[in-house]
Amino acid sequence: MSDPQTYPPSDEFVARAQVKGMAAYRELYDRAKQDPQNFWGDLARKSLSWFEPFDKTLEWNPPTAKWFVNGKTNACFNCVDRHLAGSRRTKPAILWEGEPGDARVITYEELHRLVARFANILKQLGYKTGDRAILYMPMVPELPVAMLACARLGIIHSVVFAGFSAEALKARIQDLAAELVITADGGWRRGKEVRLKTAVDEALEDCPGVRNVIVHRRTASDIPMKNGRDRWWHELDQQLAATAGESANNCDAAALDSDHPLYVLYTSGTTGKPKGILHTTAGYLLQASASMTWVFDLREDDIYWCTADIGWVTGHSYIVYGPLAAGATAVMYEGAPDYPAFDRFWQIVEKLKVSIFYTSPTAIRALIRQGEKWPDAHNLSSLRLLGSVGEPINPAAWEWYHRVIGKARCPIVDTWWQTETGAIMISPMPGAMPLKPGSASLPLPGVIPDVVDTRGEPVRNNREGYLIIREPWPSMVRTIWGDPKRFEEQYWSRVPGAYFTGDAARRDEDGYFWVLGRVDDVMNVSGHRLSTMEIESALVHHHAVAEAAVVGKPHEITGQAVCAFVTLKKGNWDHTALGQELRQWVAHEIGPFARPEDIRFTDALPKTRSGKIMRRLLREIVTSNAVTGDVTTLEDLTVVTALSSHHEED
Ligand code: PRX
Repeated sequence: MSDPQTYPPSDEFVARAQVKGMAAYRELYDRAKQDPQNFWGDLARKSLSWFEPFDKTLEWNPPTAKWFVNGKTNACFNCVDRHLAGSRRTKPAILWEGEPGDARVITYEELHRLVARFANILKQLGYKTGDRAILYMPMVPELPVAMLACARLGIIHSVVFAGFSAEALKARIQDLAAELVITADGGWRRGKEVRLKTAVDEALEDCPGVRNVIVHRRTASDIPMKNGRDRWWHELDQQLAATAGESANNCDAAALDSDHPLYVLYTSGTTGKPKGILHTTAGYLLQASASMTWVFDLREDDIYWCTADIGWVTGHSYIVYGPLAAGATAVMYEGAPDYPAFDRFWQIVEKLKVSIFYTSPTAIRALIRQGEKWPDAHNLSSLRLLGSVGEPINPAAWEWYHRVIGKARCPIVDTWWQTETGAIMISPMPGAMPLKPGSASLPLPGVIPDVVDTRGEPVRNNREGYLIIREPWPSMVRTIWGDPKRFEEQYWSRVPGAYFTGDAARRDEDGYFWVLGRVDDVMNVSGHRLSTMEIESALVHHHAVAEAAVVGKPHEITGQAVCAFVTLKKGNWDHTALGQELRQWVAHEIGPFARPEDIRFTDALPKTRSGKIMRRLLREIVTSNAVTGDVTTLEDLTVVTALSSHHEED
């Protein structure tokens, strides 16, 4: 199979790139493959600062990996303190844009001051290494400050995306047995306040283990504060100044084991319960920062912008830990891409002279729909590299991004990775390889992916199979918080000794990977991972619902949309009103982004003889509205016909 068009890097780009041409890529890749221990060991010594050196690169007893054994380091020290010695001291670390139009510039020096002060506050409240903090914050600088302050002391943080509901927040606080919540009164989104503290109060009704809630003031709205539990961040800071004086600005970074837990980030899996993905310190940071050079070709003077939310892994690795460890200037934007108008991204690119821009295919497709006049009204000449993440990018969106935003001048890095991988795994190195629109191209050094069949045997070129990763890598997930059995079963038992990604892919004759999507019951809606089971269990909690089955249906902008098939308990239901109510219900149970777009009421769901819902059939119904293939295991064939014809939509 040959592909329509490839885009080799321009001579101009190659001339200044840090990895130049395919030969350089091959040399790097082969060296890492042949001797991973020395490759990663040398890189870790060179690119991280260590309090005590490690004496072994890797101990690997599948599925348990220990990286950089006996080394001591600190993620916050690597992201902040070590930049203070030279010219980076006064370099902006974060260029922040608030949605209402306010802005802040935070240099590395200032970042150090903010982080040290907040770490001292946490210490004064009695928090220490190994404690767990939930961060439920808007996209304001206090969020990375809080993350880094936790990392400085060895407190394990778990950021919960501010779009999650109180119910979802509660489940995460309880699973982590967190002792501390850091939040804000609210945040701005499309001109409206998202009230965060209210959700925290609701969640905490059932979380007696939380001793304190620290509240950053962002919107200045009126919120209740619970005596003895809730503290304003700015008041704690004033108290610190009064008691500690000048020493408030200094706080030693703890010397932590390489594999000390850095954070837990919850993501959707194939069951109803979200998985707490655990990342640890040195390996995670190493690969997040190495990819800043390999993928983004980061230079000292770049202005780098990743538009993700820090509530997801992309924001963790590519707004906070990767860029800051690499000493970059990172842009952070609080609000929505279409507020106050569809040119908000391009207005910020022009204002801040962004040179590297990293976003999602969903955002690109939504902006394509608004037309070229929005980007055309701005000077985008500062851009030199574009990135895409979260879902496959369709070639038409790729071409538009390349032509209209990149002016056919900027390479596009389509980066494949997951919450579990911690850092980018498969992506072009933009000065090395020709680009093929729609393909994440080739694996980064030290990453050994393969495409296999159900028996774990490699499939031939251009055949579809399961995407796996054969060898351990430093930023790999270490466990599922509190559930090592699920960790082993989910990732390490399908193909013995190899990591199972849950994605389908094919590899072409040039070795390029084409990621096709999930093979499990996980949907990808706007680049957000959603579990069909999680939404189903939310729906069956509703008093009217007897059974529910959820599948992803193709969607022009968001990639997939949530489609729910629902059977009701006996009663006289108004389907239109109930459809609205159930959508609202899911928003309440999980968050507005999980709301089904399409709810279809039916008398029964198609099941196998053993009672399992046949989601494959439902997927076919929503994709083509017809059913083909094997239906002999169906309990009741009439159900399928009824489903295909019964249709209740917005
Ligand atoms: O299906 C793949 C898709 O997103 C999944 C990972 O989701 P999450 O853990 O939320 O992390 C998203 C950001 C890294 C993957 O299993 N995915 C991510 N990037 C791509 C992609 N699919 C195709 N191409 C990509 N570039």
